[in-house]
Amino acid sequence: MVVQRTNYLDDKLMGALAAMPVNVATPVKRQVVLLGSGLDTKAWRLDFPSGTAIFEVDQRDMSGFKHRRLEAIKAQTDAASDPAKFKHPLKAASWTSVGTDLMHPEWVADLEDQGFQKGLPTAYVAEGLLYYLSPNAVKSLLATLAEISGPGSALLFSCINEGFYSGAKSDLSKAGTDGMWATTLKFTEAFQFGITDDVAGFLRPLGWDASADGAVKDVRNVYQAYGVQEFLPPKGLGFDKNREENEKMFGPKVYYLVNARLSP
Ligand SMILES: C[S@@+](CC[C@H](N)C(=O)[O-])C[C@H]1O[C@@H](n2cnc3c(N)ncnc32)[C@H](O)[C@@H]1O
Repeated sequence: MVVQRTNYLDDKLMGALAAMPVNVATPVKRQVVLLGSGLDTKAWRLDFPSGTAIFEVDQRDMSGFKHRRLEAIKAQTDAASDPAKFKHPLKAASWTSVGTDLMHPEWVADLEDQGFQKGLPTAYVAEGLLYYLSPNAVKSLLATLAEISGPGSALLFSCINEGFYSGAKSDLSKAGTDGMWATTLKFTEAFQFGITDDVAGFLRPLGWDASADGAVKDVRNVYQAYGVQEFLPPKGLGFDKNREENEKMFGPKVYYLVNARLSP
């Protein structure tokens, strides 16, 4: 599932960048901000259009860890250095790591301190992040992104829905502490948010438009496009153990992929 999520968001990111206004009279033409970037490798994998500045935002500990890993695998992080000296040269005009907490409003100042420019066309990717933030933090984050972005900006993200969130919490309460099922559920303990199924309606007051055809997808509907069979976890191991019972109580379980644009 994670592979399809990344392939899909990579494609939509490149599409959004290609469609952005090009008449920006600054060396940086467009920005990409990877929110909760973790060990993301887009900066070294994707051929970004010229003048694309990449910012990766994650918690301070993760930023430090990633710097050490990038050095160990000989990945270029300073665009001014000679790319020939690296096993993994940068494929963007710049790469900047920002250690901050997206649950606290200081993240905007931290991002600006590292060179982010308000008002430029920007593509944001929040891949596997939003369900780890509180509902208020999600709303405040997305509204702030809209406020600081220029025309043509894009917001791409993945998110579980409310049915998935409630089902995961119910599973957790039954899982006990032993066994593989309890182990596979462990990381859902940190879930704080599931998005409503009216994704476009949720985003509209926050300044983002997801009303276009195909802007909101269930991850299960993008498997075939990437040549992979649907992922079916072995019975009893994955998150589908109580699927029918959970769906009766909490509604359908969906993992959304969203490709929104800044509202005009
Ligand atoms: C599941 S990982 C996803 C990583 C990456 N985007 C990917 O798809 O492989 C979630 C990431 O969000 C980061 N994260 C969670 N809460 C955060 C917060 N409050 N502020 C900044 N980053 C956060 C975590 O440190 C982690 O790297």
